[in-house]
Amino acid sequence: KKLLLVDVDCGVDDAQAIMMALASPNVEILGITCCFGNASIENVCRNVLRILSVCDRTEIPVFRGASDSLLGESSHSFLHFGRDGLGDVPDPDSPGLENLQGENAVQALLRIVSEHVGQISLVATGPLTNLALAVKLDPTFPQKLKHLYIMGGNMDGTGNRTVCAEFNFSLDPEAAYIVLNQFSCPTYIATLQFTYNNSLSMDFFEALVNQNTLKAQFMKKITSQWSHNKSAFVSYDSYAMAAAIDESVITENLRCGVTVELSGQLTRGMLVLDMNDDKKKKNKVFLMKSCDLEKFKKMLMLALQ
Ligand code: BDR
Ligand code: CA
Repeated sequence: KKLLLVDVDCGVDDAQAIMMALASPNVEILGITCCFGNASIENVCRNVLRILSVCDRTEIPVFRGASDSLLGESSHSFLHFGRDGLGDVPDPDSPGLENLQGENAVQALLRIVSEHVGQISLVATGPLTNLALAVKLDPTFPQKLKHLYIMGGNMDGTGNRTVCAEFNFSLDPEAAYIVLNQFSCPTYIATLQFTYNNSLSMDFFEALVNQNTLKAQFMKKITSQWSHNKSAFVSYDSYAMAAAIDESVITENLRCGVTVELSGQLTRGMLVLDMNDDKKKKNKVFLMKSCDLEKFKKMLMLALQ
């Protein structure tokens, strides 16, 4: 079985990614760590507990992490999925925060990775604050990971939160910089443009959420606000998760040097690519380039069955 740790800022697409992993027989989620982002850290934690409850997988431990960015600049942004991060649909029986583990997310990441050295793939689908804190507390953390999969950053300088920066990287540019410059494990990045270039149709989205299952009905409920006047279905985080579950989903990667702009007036948070050869050889960063869409769609459908 593949062992996963998942670090999320649970919005709707984070939820789809988590449900994809829960539905994969060859994958075991050892824990889910929460970070601010699509909503406040409290709502992100509540959303993860809600997803696990809907999927009847409340045995999976959930850990509370960073409530704002390393510089304290941002604590959330309601860009995509409403104020609570899951479409603002009241859910009276959603589990309370007392179901969280007492241990914080960073301690949990360090402990669990040290208990399974070289065996864990870490999937990060939100701002990278928890991962940056982890490597500051234990510089050997990255070399204990088998793989790192990230949804974040951009390949052509266009952003979705600021003019030049992708949402996750823009919410904590310093954290993204630290992770991309100080992690030494093979790292695969699903950038914003990769997700756009591999977006799915709204017809597929309708088929997905109209499956006759409790999970599909739940997904239909929390996406009802989001799906208005959408021209395509982009499950951003699910691409990073799909790659972690089955690397054959990603059919082409681009190896290159990467870093993050921190002080640009317009470009703060932008992913900067360095095609210089010795930079490429030095790091182990791969930008996803193409995807087997049929495999990807099948994994999304399975996630809601
Ligand atoms: C990222 O922004 C968030 O809203 C999504 O969950 C995804 O992680 C895409 O830019
Ligand atoms: Ca996310």
